[in-house]
Amino acid sequence: MKLEDFWYVVAEARELPVGTVLARTVLGERLAVFRDAAGQPTALRDRCMHRAAPLSAGRVEAGQLRCAYHGWLYRGDGTVAQVPAEGPEQREVAGRCTRRYATLEQHGYVYVRLAEAPEVDHPPHALPSWGEPGWGRVRLQNRFANNVTNCVENFIDVPHTVFVHPGIFRSTRGQSIEATITREHGVVTVNYAGETDNLGWFAWFLNPGKQPIEHSDQFFMPNVTHVRYAMGPRRTFLITSQSVPVTDTETLVYTDLAYDYGWVTPFVAPIIRFQSQAVIDQDLVILRQQGDNLAHYGGGFANTPADIVHVLVESIRDALAAGEDPRQLPARSHSVKFYA
Ligand code: FES
Ligand SMILES: [Fe+2]
Repeated sequence: MKLEDFWYVVAEARELPVGTVLARTVLGERLAVFRDAAGQPTALRDRCMHRAAPLSAGRVEAGQLRCAYHGWLYRGDGTVAQVPAEGPEQREVAGRCTRRYATLEQHGYVYVRLAEAPEVDHPPHALPSWGEPGWGRVRLQNRFANNVTNCVENFIDVPHTVFVHPGIFRSTRGQSIEATITREHGVVTVNYAGETDNLGWFAWFLNPGKQPIEHSDQFFMPNVTHVRYAMGPRRTFLITSQSVPVTDTETLVYTDLAYDYGWVTPFVAPIIRFQSQAVIDQDLVILRQQGDNLAHYGGGFANTPADIVHVLVESIRDALAAGEDPRQLPARSHSVKFYA
């Protein structure tokens, strides 16, 4: 099993209307993404076969992509439909076919898969609550100057919140938090107990009734995190982040924030967008600084019991990087207590 076997988001569906072409990079592979004649998303290697111009600099004509340099025209399946310099007598075009990648559209995202014949067919992550009535949604995109592992660790890291997001997300109270942490089948799950009203200036909004908070975090191989807060029956907040590896040092994160706040749900999108982006802006800074230091000094971390969640995430990411199947790792379960 390898990283290329999985599906990665390349765009929100709304970013790819018919007739547009997007330039994207996934795992170092450059892609030109557009919709073919049937309206289906298509991803071609972003390199014209003729003289290597980027196809994403070209234009879409009736579902075919024309290179900006000498006008070669590509169909959605990667075959060359026309070479303008050959005039009316188009030569034999057999063999004129560029690299094309599998694509699909699900839950408002467009996905690409780089492996032609993946060892395991692992479908894209299904978004919780998608299609259920009563939920509001906000989507964000952010580019982190760090790798996927450090991004996903940040998104499910509780101890950093009091330092990176003081007051906004959580206030320092030295509150003890008990967590059970499991690793099973390529998934790390953390269930927290003992959290109450320690939510900073989110509290008036997230939990005005001071209900007991159910909080769980999950990591799904290779790149998805879920954060779930539930405060009573009609106050649920789900954050699903898909961390797409652009290169070894750059990650494009697609965040889907879904919320059910009862009757106020239709009105709160601007607040959710503003507050969530404010939190992410702070993470962008610390992760850029961490990434810069890792590039300078290399890896190697010091761990405490509160870092078990990170160690388990790293075990899954390391297995994938080594071409192994993380689902074969033995199941693990830990109970830890820490302070935040
Ligand atoms: S480089 Fe694309 S047509 Fe020449
Ligand atoms: Fe954070």
